[in-house]
Formats: sequence, C-alpha cells, structure tokens
Amino acid sequence: MKGRFGMKIKWDTDPKQDRFDPRDGPKTMKAVVTAGNGGYDKLQYRVVSLPTLEPGEVLLQVLAAGVNNTEINTRIGWYSSSVTTGTEEAATAEEEQATAKADGGWNETTPFPFIQGTDCCGRIVAVASDGDKSTIGSRVLVRACMRQFGFESMDNIWMGSDFDGAFAQFVKVPAGEVFAVDCDWSDAELGTIPCAYGTAENMVHRGKVSQGEHVLVPGASGGVGSAVVQLVKRRGATVTAIAAKAKMEQVLSIGADRVIDRDEDIFASLGENSVDVVIDNVAGPAFGGLLKVLKRGGRYASSGAIGSPLVTFDMRTFYLKDLTLTGCTAWDESVFPNLISYIERGELRPLVAKILPLERIADAQLEFIEKKHVGNFVLIPPPLDG
Ligand SMILES: NC(=O)c1ccc[n+]([C@@H]2O[C@H](COP(=O)([O-])OP(=O)(O)OC[C@H]3O[C@@H](n4cnc5c(N)ncnc54)[C@H](OP(=O)(O)O)[C@@H]3O)[C@@H](O)[C@H]2O)c1
Repeated sequence: MKGRFGMKIKWDTDPKQDRFDPRDGPKTMKAVVTAGNGGYDKLQYRVVSLPTLEPGEVLLQVLAAGVNNTEINTRIGWYSSSVTTGTEEAATAEEEQATAKADGGWNETTPFPFIQGTDCCGRIVAVASDGDKSTIGSRVLVRACMRQFGFESMDNIWMGSDFDGAFAQFVKVPAGEVFAVDCDWSDAELGTIPCAYGTAENMVHRGKVSQGEHVLVPGASGGVGSAVVQLVKRRGATVTAIAAKAKMEQVLSIGADRVIDRDEDIFASLGENSVDVVIDNVAGPAFGGLLKVLKRGGRYASSGAIGSPLVTFDMRTFYLKDLTLTGCTAWDESVFPNLISYIERGELRPLVAKILPLERIADAQLEFIEKKHVGNFVLIPPPLDG
C-alpha cells in the first residue's frame, strides 16, 4: 500500500519471532509496531497478540490516538546526545541513514520492538481480576506520564515511550492512570489532549502563572503551544504568542492577545524586562532573546526544544536578573485531574488539525513534521470487525 506521500506502509500479517507473535494466543489485534531506530519503514502495521492483563491493570479499546513529536523523536533516536539538530532536520536525515542509538530514547534504552502512541482516548473493556468491573464501558483519557514511585520522586515513565502505547486497537494500562471524562467532545478531540495539554498545564503550573501576568509563548501554533495559550488565558494572564506568519491569525483566534511573527527579532519587538514568564518548547537560536525580555525575577519553563536542543546561554542574563529556569517533564499530581475538570467545565477547546486511519501513520508523521498545521493530528484504529 502507498500513502499520499508515496511512503510504503508495511501491512504485515506474517507471524514474527518476537513478543507480539500472534501464535502466542488466540486473541489478536491490529497495531503499529515500531521495529527500531530509523525511518518510516520501521513502522510495521501488523496483526499482534492482544495484551494480557496483570493485577491492577485495565484493558482499553483505543478510540483515538494523537500524534506527537515524541514518537518521531524516539523512532529516529533524537534524544541521543549525538543528535544536535531540531526534530524536522533529524527526521529527514534519518530517512537517508538509519542508525541504531542506545541512548536515543528519552529515558532508558527504548524497548524496541514496541507499540508507540502516547495519547489515548479509550473505552474500558476489561479489568484485571482485582479490578472494579463497574468502570467497564467508561470513556477515559490515559495519564501518559506516570510517576511509578509516587509523586515524591521525579522518576517517571511514559506510555508509548517506555512501554506499549495507543497505536493499536487495544492497550493495557494501570487502572490508576485512567480518568473518566464526561463531555460532548468527539473521541478524536479527546485524543488531542493527554500529551500536549498535560505537558502544557505542567509548565503553566510549575511556571506559577497567575492573573495579570504577561506570558510569552513561542511555538504557539503547535500542540503544546496552543494548549499553553488556552491554559494561560484561563488563569487570567496576558499572552504574547510567537508563530509563523501563515498561522498568526489562527493563533489569535485561539485566544492570544498578541502574536509576533517568528522571523521578527523578539527582543526588538517586546523590549527588555517586559515579560513575567516564558513557556518555551522551541529553544534554538531564539533562546537568548527569550531570556533578555524576561523581567528581573522572571521565570522560564520548558519541556522541549523542537527548534534545536543546543542553545547559546549567557550566564550573566540568568544570574544578574535573578531568573528561574524550570525543566518540566514529570507531571505534578494535580495536573491531569485539573485538566479533566477544565474540559468538563468547558474551559478548553480542542484543535484537531487532521484525522487519519492508524494504518496511514507514516503519512500522518510526514505531514506533521512539515509544520503547516495548527493544533494536533489524530489517528483512528480500525473498527474491531475491520
Ligand atoms: N518533555 C515532554 O514531556 C514533552 C511533551 C510534549 C512535547 N514535548 C516537546 O515539545 C516540543 C513541541 O511539541 P508540540 O507537540 O507542541 O510540537 P508541534 O505541534 O510540532 O509544534 C511545534 C511548533 O513549534 C514551532 N516551531 C518554531 N521553530 C520550529 C522549528 N525549527 N521546527 C519545528 N517547529 C518549530 C512551529 O510553529 P510555527 O510554525 O508557528 O513557528 C510548530 O507549530 C517538541 O519538541 C516535543 O517533543 C516534550
């Protein structure tokens, strides 16, 4: 089969000699198995065995699974210190030369072959023998970032990066990590939420954004950035967003008070000491200017570096202005439950840029890294009888 971009997508029904081998059991499902570091040919659409529940787990039928940079980053091994460029450049280069990287995962070595997919909107279809059967049938979101040793420890693991995720018809997860959500949003709309909005709310929370403050948001057209804009506005702060010229109108419509073209000189546009908080997942060459526009005592929070992970950092700007720089990956305890309540109270809106069937994952990722869109891409697994 060939997708829109002419990528060959593997439709592979042959049994494999790996833990997904369908001969291991009578129950099967369709899934995208990522075979290892490399290009799109590593995404294998296969018939695999259904997950078996351990105590404390629930089985979800995946209704919708969002697309995130982390799945591309993990496949190409972008988290390796040997990679010094942004995601798009690295992903394109990796198509030409796939190299296995032992340190290419965000955390431990990536457990290839495995099923990626960080975002899951699903329905509980089974619980382990010790589980609560009354939850069967609930539509839920999965808290993708899991603090396996409790919230006192910063250790965390992610669905779809450290263990099998949602690019499948079914996924199993710890019962304590699923949150029922009562709203009229579609499955695809809910599928945009966990990774982007959870990460965004964690930064807004850690950055201590409060009413009346001025917050600068680079990458505001992206999944995380557009969520940050909404989450900052719901706290009563003012947003100056940074976006590509073609997306500026759309970013204004999300709620930003002002949008600056990303090609403009941010320092010249805003001036020194004009911003209370910067929430930045772009980094790259603009980084130095982002610190200069912060007021004395200002805060900078980041969960990503899509522009480039290596930046020029003037220590004098940092210490002479009493800045606080906060790295954010492990979600704090209040973050995900709060997010669910904002959705249920109608305080957020989803931004679905495109919906594609799961088997077109390579097309989705190719178009996603072109960055012509605003918001999030979502994949829908095939119907159970399909
Ligand atoms: N640590 C974590 O737990 C965590 C969780 C989620 C995401 N992340 C990371 O956060 C970053 C943003 O995620 P996202 O989901 O918001 O990504 P996204 O949807 O792809 O959006 C990123 C935005 O950044 C802007 N941008 C500016 N310079 C860019 C460049 N050189 N290359 C690509 N985009 C550029 C683009 O907007 P314009 O075209 O309008 O400039 C783009 O819309 C990624 O690196 C991701 O891996 C980390």
